[in-house]
Amino acid sequence: MGKKDIIAAIDIGSSKVVALIAMIEGGEINIVGIGQHPSTGVTKGQIINIDKTTSDIQEAMNSATLMAGVKFTRLYVGIGGCHIETITSKGMVSIKGDNIPISKEDVGRVIEQAKTIATPTDREVSHIIPQEFKVNEEIETNDPIGMTGFRLEGKIKIITSSSYSVQNIKRCIEKSHLKNAIYVVNPIASACATFDENEKKMGAIMLDIGAETTSIVIYEKGNLRYVGVVEIGGEFITKDIAYGLNTTRENAENFKINYGCARLDMVDDNEIIEVPGVSGRAPRKISKQEFIQIIEPRAREILELAYAKVIKESDVPVDRIGAGLILTGGTADLPGIPELGEDIFNLRGRIGMGVSGIGENIYDPAFSTSVGLIKYAVTEGGTSESVRKVSGSQEGWIKRIFDWLKDI
Ligand SMILES: Nc1ncnc2c1ncn2[C@@H]1O[C@H](COP(=O)(O)OP(=O)(O)OP(=O)(O)O)[C@@H](O)[C@H]1O
Ligand SMILES: [Mg+2]
Repeated sequence: MGKKDIIAAIDIGSSKVVALIAMIEGGEINIVGIGQHPSTGVTKGQIINIDKTTSDIQEAMNSATLMAGVKFTRLYVGIGGCHIETITSKGMVSIKGDNIPISKEDVGRVIEQAKTIATPTDREVSHIIPQEFKVNEEIETNDPIGMTGFRLEGKIKIITSSSYSVQNIKRCIEKSHLKNAIYVVNPIASACATFDENEKKMGAIMLDIGAETTSIVIYEKGNLRYVGVVEIGGEFITKDIAYGLNTTRENAENFKINYGCARLDMVDDNEIIEVPGVSGRAPRKISKQEFIQIIEPRAREILELAYAKVIKESDVPVDRIGAGLILTGGTADLPGIPELGEDIFNLRGRIGMGVSGIGENIYDPAFSTSVGLIKYAVTEGGTSESVRKVSGSQEGWIKRIFDWLKDI
């Protein structure tokens, strides 16, 4: 991508709506506009109030465009919520004629068949990821095009979303007078911002721990293997603190950010913190240990639920993950989360933050999805990305999958 391109991204999260505008030149991403607004119409990643979310999107977008001072040409919007699922499907077709090489149309027929079998009517196909192909029931290959055979089978992963949830997002985007948006599920966007090539090849698990959702993405052998979302996040910790300390949600959130830690064994025995009283009541003192005892069980629950989902739903054994765990999303900033994640997954952890080459102000795990949407847009028509947006005509997506096959 040599020419200049201006791309916008919108991440509609449970706690905040983010709009980014990026200038892309020679593949370099330069963020020129950022807008952020509290999210008032989203619960557990899903829109529950169209008017409120429309207004939050407009506020965030107005700030971003004002800062950027340029018009964007493409818009990418994230789809959030635990309705996002991975389906593994297979397709099989006969190859017509003797000694005729397998064509990209044959590959397209396999994928179309797998997709039709696997997609219920109330679900929308968001992404198609070919896994591997088999020619004549015996030769396994990533790229069957040009080979000779009488039968072609293909295994594909299909990432689907609830049609109703996607419609609600589209309605908010349209009501915000934004046009021609391309929709990408949030976990895939966050993965674009955080995984590096070694992690994709050796295998890694990403957890984007947000406010009310935790997204999971697994790459292995260079390919995307699993996408899932659990309905839990950092806001649950904040609510536990508010309840445990008899204080407001706002006080609890400040306390979590200023003194929070996910592991009891990482805090000093003697430290004392002062909890402000509500509505003129006197403040009181508690030990930091007491405070962390409220946080640790919920932090553990978030990670254990994610681990249980990986074990139950993904077909990649955790012991085949060579590189480790990537923690991102706002809650990855809670001290002790990487260490707790390492214990539960038995993998080495690191915090994943945006991508290099982007302004420092968004070098923050809470911006992984919005930065990832931009990164997705840049790599979508490009080289090594194994994820392809399924939009437009069948011919369009068959061509994109063909391009992907050529790349690997
Ligand atoms: N320094 C910090 N320490 C602890 N928690 C933090 C810190 N910074 C942010 N958080 C928490 O991160 C969460 C917000 O994360 P994020 O912005 O990724 O969520 P979101 O994208 O709005 O929500 P979701 O992805 O779940 O829909 C909040 O619960 C917030 O309290
Ligand atoms: Mg998020």
